[in-house]
Amino acid sequence: MADADATYLHLTIDGRSVEVEAGTIVAAALAMAGAGRTRTSVSGEPRAALCGMGICQECRVTIDGRAHVLACQTLCRDGQVVCTAAAVANAVNVTNAPTTTANR
Ligand code: FES
Repeated sequence: MADADATYLHLTIDGRSVEVEAGTIVAAALAMAGAGRTRTSVSGEPRAALCGMGICQECRVTIDGRAHVLACQTLCRDGQVVCTAAAVANAVNVTNAPTTTANR
């Protein structure tokens, strides 16, 4: 049940609009939004927030265009745009997709 006195913020996570209570950290917003991973390891394994205190670096995401921001150490702000590695990879794949006569 929502707190009637709470202040809510609206941010975008991987292109989806998300509403969170003021004071929420980005890692928590990612979990609430169902974002299963923040990035991918060099061997291709999915990674997500682990320590929650700025040590493991597994929660790195892109926030407002700035890469490698620790989601566990960053408060949500109204209008914030958060991209996980999955969203960035999809954008790169679309940009680098081979051009065919079908999509020219
Ligand atoms: S969860 Fe470990 S640094 Fe953020």
